[in-house]
Amino acid sequence: MSRQAYVNGHFYAHGDAMVHVEDRGFQFADGVYEVWAVFDGKLADFKGHMDRLERSLDELRIDRPMSRAALTNVLRETVRRNRVRDGLCYIQITRGQARRDHPFPDPPVAPSLIVTSRSVDQASAAAKALKGVAVVTVPETRWARCDIKSVALLPNILAKQAAKEKGAAEAWFVDDLGLVTEGSSTNAWIVDSEGVLRTRDTNANILRGITRHNLIDLAHEAGIEVSQRPFSVEEAKQAKEAFFTAASAFVMPVISVDGTKIGDGKPGPITSKLRTIYLENARSAAV
Ligand code: PDD
Repeated sequence: MSRQAYVNGHFYAHGDAMVHVEDRGFQFADGVYEVWAVFDGKLADFKGHMDRLERSLDELRIDRPMSRAALTNVLRETVRRNRVRDGLCYIQITRGQARRDHPFPDPPVAPSLIVTSRSVDQASAAAKALKGVAVVTVPETRWARCDIKSVALLPNILAKQAAKEKGAAEAWFVDDLGLVTEGSSTNAWIVDSEGVLRTRDTNANILRGITRHNLIDLAHEAGIEVSQRPFSVEEAKQAKEAFFTAASAFVMPVISVDGTKIGDGKPGPITSKLRTIYLENARSAAV
């Protein structure tokens, strides 16, 4: 069966799924999104992503297109129709379609809703995690509301492309103080030279990653202490281990930062343990 996408109340063949030219998502990036990992056809970290989606909408004063229960059905139906066992489910909600004008449409229009889902080759992702990946650093150039999961991702895209052109898998943004904020689509972590697991606190201008949040709890349960405080690029280079987290990457070991080897240049033991714990937990808690 070919892929299908949900657009504003209907499922379409993926190639025919369209939004209007004057959708505010297209015109202004006036919208938000979420990404769930899918395990065995079920949505991982379901509540966390749903809560953050509603928060992002509220922060931007975009109406909810339907109830949480109805939206859950649409997400599940999209996964089902695309026969996704292991993969991703993507939702985007924009302020809707209206004549191009910067203020919110008046009278308001219905928000637009799209949902897609696709399979991911988890075997090749696992192989990547066994080897680890490279990271480069780039200056932080984003707006001051990175806690909102907005579709306005231009700095993130430029950063990811810069990483790709240097043979790296991710770019870590670095603020004016030389401290890492987060990755272009992931949260950044190290096991520092003292052996302390560190990731930036959420008072900083970063996305409050759901994988990050759950991993902090899982680390505590496993007796691994987490310190939520910033680290510099220099500290990252001298770290024993490094990794990044996201729904699309789980826990991905980092083996170099700007060409400097981390530890012995292989995924570290704490990182590998956390990846295993996270995957086991997320798979069994998926709904
Ligand atoms: N990105 N930081 C940024 C800037 C992100 O875009 C993401 C997620 C994360 C990790 O958040 P979470 O653990 O909730 O997935 C951190 C998604 C996967 C994306 O843009 O595709």
